[in-house]
Amino acid sequence: MFQLFPTPADIAAHVSAHLMDLIRQQPHAVLGLATGSTMEPIYAAFIAQVQQQGVDIRQIRSFNLDEYMGLPPSHPQSYHYYMQQHLFQALGLDAAQVRLPNGVAPDSVAECRQYSADIAAAGGLDFQLLGIGTNGHIGFNEPGTPFDSLTHVVHLTQKTRTDNGRLFDNPSQVPTHAITMGIQDILNAKQVILVATGAHKAQTMRQLFLSAPTPDMPASALKNHGNARIYVDAAAAALLPPEAFA
Ligand code: F6R
Repeated sequence: MFQLFPTPADIAAHVSAHLMDLIRQQPHAVLGLATGSTMEPIYAAFIAQVQQQGVDIRQIRSFNLDEYMGLPPSHPQSYHYYMQQHLFQALGLDAAQVRLPNGVAPDSVAECRQYSADIAAAGGLDFQLLGIGTNGHIGFNEPGTPFDSLTHVVHLTQKTRTDNGRLFDNPSQVPTHAITMGIQDILNAKQVILVATGAHKAQTMRQLFLSAPTPDMPASALKNHGNARIYVDAAAAALLPPEAFA
């Protein structure tokens, strides 16, 4: 399930080419997307490949994993803003094609229910792209999240708030809550690729490799998925034994 690539750029080229193939085969593909530093080279490579190779992306749809609560789409640290800056604007995607949880919905519980329902109504996710937190979270599904969870409100762990604080003027400004797709929503995707890059993810990759499926390590849920792969660069793979790549 683990695949080794020399650098983040190699992963970006590979994931991007995979997305291009998927969209060529399924012009109506429904994509599950992530934010975060790991995704930046992937989205840059995808934009370049779309522009150079000219695939038709007018029919694709996307659902993002998560959004902070309390941040409007115009807030520079919101995931709406991230997606506009890193992908949607450059691709010229229409607002009707893309969906993120609404972090300022007046009724967050109703928004969560609607989000999972919207994914199902779109026919489910053909592909889900994931990063991973140093505590093993996928989306904002923190350790302890049940594998059968659907979209829900989460109280972010201090570890995640500290990790994400680098993007805010002051780490105390990181919202305390978020809306995330649940682990079941992720497992329902037909195909999943999780990407981990950098030495700071090496210990997490080792724990993930050694772990049986358990809510203590949310990404281990992917071991229950028939079509999930984990792409690591050399730095993130540093603590993985050779048998991880067998
Ligand atoms: C973001 C998300 C998170 C990130 C994870 C890793 O939408 O779902 O699970 O993928 O926190 O973030 P980076 O890539 O910044 O290390």
